[in-house]
Amino acid sequence: MSKRSLLLLPGDGIGPEVMRQVRRVIDWYARKRGIEFAVEEGLVGGCSYDAHGTPLTDETMARALAVDAVLLAAVGGPKWDNLGFDKRPEAGLLRLRKEMQLFANLRPAKVFDALVDASTLKPDVVRGLDIMIVRELTGGVYFGEPRGITDLPNGERRGVNTQVYDTHEIHRVARVAFELARKRGNKVCSSEKGNVMESGLLWRQEVIALHKAEYQDVELSHMLADAAAMQLVRNPKQFDVIVTDNLFGDILSDEASMLTGSIGMLPSASLGATDANGKRKALYEPVHGSAPDIAGRDLANPIAMFLSFAMALRWSFDLQAEADILENAVENVLNTGLRTGDIMQPGMARVSTSVMADSILREMDKVAAV
Ligand code: IPM
Ligand code: MG
Repeated sequence: MSKRSLLLLPGDGIGPEVMRQVRRVIDWYARKRGIEFAVEEGLVGGCSYDAHGTPLTDETMARALAVDAVLLAAVGGPKWDNLGFDKRPEAGLLRLRKEMQLFANLRPAKVFDALVDASTLKPDVVRGLDIMIVRELTGGVYFGEPRGITDLPNGERRGVNTQVYDTHEIHRVARVAFELARKRGNKVCSSEKGNVMESGLLWRQEVIALHKAEYQDVELSHMLADAAAMQLVRNPKQFDVIVTDNLFGDILSDEASMLTGSIGMLPSASLGATDANGKRKALYEPVHGSAPDIAGRDLANPIAMFLSFAMALRWSFDLQAEADILENAVENVLNTGLRTGDIMQPGMARVSTSVMADSILREMDKVAAV
């Protein structure tokens, strides 16, 4: 069997230091479980701009399209804030999503028992929470045309972006949400602003049509995006799977991350369509950003990156039991009281990125031995 292939894109800020720890996890699977990956590394974001004058080279783009899965850590930083849109670090990430056609972004928000008190919400509101946000990732206002900033005859300027969705874009992401729901709590809540936006109204109508045709066994509800934002902090446990567009998904998933205590805990998977061989393009990345304020100081929480790799084991390589080892090791280490700064609580032991990773790797030995 040919080796499973991975492209690692550490990116900017804390990206390289959390990716370094994931490499150790990848090595662990080769050493301890005989699961080998062919690993290449590349540049994306500000570091690529510094080296090549573009946030993503064509060569790296081509490699991303060729491998089984891409792991990306984070892009961006104040250093590149004043570049034009096409040169900004974020443009590298958006190009990857678009050209790999990763239309479904899975952002699970799960509260570990050990972290119930790390959330700013009351423990009862978040204990046991396990929701999945399915965010549309290649359409909507992020990519809609026309877009741009133009000069007006009256001396003012105009900024334009376009929110646009076609039927097939709505159906394919809603399908992912319904399929996921069947394996979880069997509930989908679809969220848009159909009260003010035609694209939102179409979204709702098309989700209803697909549900009627193929997914009547799944419980479907609809919530306006503003109300969903409110309900996510009021009573998040009412949700199972939330499906929503690119922009609302961006916002709602940041909000959901804080239910879990820290954005440093949340992984994500961005998936394309399944091809004739049953394969799908995929990119895995933490929901958190590049955190330039703590970069290079061994302070970052590596857990979101680890859990993103666990999602890769599940979704790209069908290694469910192996993913369990990593996820259980993370949970056990949290139960022993180790915390990086972002999830620090009174009475716990504050540790660095590398000590957190050391502990999780040691715990993986124990979990695997059982
Ligand atoms: C995310 C990020 C990105 C987005 C940025 C970095 C372009 O916020 O993945 O949620 O807006 O999609
Ligand atoms: Mg975001």
